[in-house]
Amino acid sequence: MDHFNYQNGTLFCEDVDLNTIANKVGTPFYCYSSATLVRHFNVLKDALKFINPLICYAVKANSNVAVLKTLAEEGAGADVVSKGEIMRALKAGIPAQKIVYSGVGKSHADMAFALNTGVLQLNVESLAELHQLNIVAQKLDRTAQVALRVNPDVDGGTHEKIRTGTAEDKFGISWQQIPETLNALKEMSHIELKGLTVHIGSQLTNLAPFKAAFMRIKELFLDIKHQGFPIERIDLGGGLGIAYDPKAPQPPQPEDYGKIIQDVFIDLPADFIIEPGRLIAGNAGIMVSSLIYLKEGEKKNFAIMDAAMNDLMRPALYDAKHALIPIQQSMGDERHLTIADVVGPVCETGDRFAKDVELESPTEGKLYAFRSAGAYGATMSSTYNTRPLIPEVLVKGENFAIIRQRINEEALIKQETMPDWF
Ligand code: LLP
Repeated sequence: MDHFNYQNGTLFCEDVDLNTIANKVGTPFYCYSSATLVRHFNVLKDALKFINPLICYAVKANSNVAVLKTLAEEGAGADVVSKGEIMRALKAGIPAQKIVYSGVGKSHADMAFALNTGVLQLNVESLAELHQLNIVAQKLDRTAQVALRVNPDVDGGTHEKIRTGTAEDKFGISWQQIPETLNALKEMSHIELKGLTVHIGSQLTNLAPFKAAFMRIKELFLDIKHQGFPIERIDLGGGLGIAYDPKAPQPPQPEDYGKIIQDVFIDLPADFIIEPGRLIAGNAGIMVSSLIYLKEGEKKNFAIMDAAMNDLMRPALYDAKHALIPIQQSMGDERHLTIADVVGPVCETGDRFAKDVELESPTEGKLYAFRSAGAYGATMSSTYNTRPLIPEVLVKGENFAIIRQRINEEALIKQETMPDWF
């Protein structure tokens, strides 16, 4: 459930009419609902209360500091993958001891920054990384608290570009390399093994792969503990999928996910961490865009929007489908249906949000919302075609605030400098 609903034919985010925001900031823009973020966080927390995990929200899904602060106030920690994301989490008031630092390629500077910040743990993905981390920690005279990310060789059954759990993928330490890694660890003076972590992919809509991966990690945890390592934590990653199409069968709910975790881990004394991103932010955001014009072609119609693939990349990258709904529903006589491809103005055929969809009365200037755009929307946007980065707006009850200004053409071009040979 989210807080984007029609009131007398007009789409509202909580108690704010989306036309009001569009008039204030112009289109396109992202709009997030605080109540939805908070609700998703707490539904998940409730579903997992029997293990009482530290919920480290995956910052990459939506990293706006105001979004992070909204979640921090509910007690969220952060799962980060860069120095920049650590800086954002700290700015939002998330304590360093609630930050886990993931990622397959941390530089020395990244490691040093994380160690000096005092993050809870670094999730290490290879023996090579572990060696480098030991060197960096030694130089700083610190001990790095680590969790080993293991690759369970389990296919999450999601889109291949967001699958991370098979032996073909670059993520995690393979099962065969674990004994060697543990042996090497014993010799590393500045590393302390605290836990294990696993993350097999994103937008998973089937629970069986989660269960398979969790069972493997439990077995490994017990084995490592038995070997005498003072290991105490299990980080279960993120990955639970959301409904992009409200009419399609619903993916498993947090309670179902909770039951799997309960089944596997009920008898295991350990501290738990989870790293959900999309589940919290995905359906807490929309992207509002206006129809520039309807191009009636020979074979097809094209609804050309003012948003494009650079603003919301998911359809171009993963063939993702984001439901499109009008901000103002048409009434009675004015209603007519047009079949069109919904596209943006960028000079690529891949700049298409939807193919052959039925649009209700598509008139020039009409406002639409792309749903489920709160995760991996703004964070993945670019300035391709020298298009501005679009504003982000956060709603809370009857209030709204611009939480990122439009970054316009002038600001973009200003970053560039002319060589002195001109
Ligand atoms: N933990 C780790 C180590 C991750 O790599 C990710 C996501 C998460 C947690 C959060 O996963 P979530 O709960 O959001 O599924 N851009 C793609 C998604 C990439 C996910 C990358 N890693 C998309 O738009 O679908």
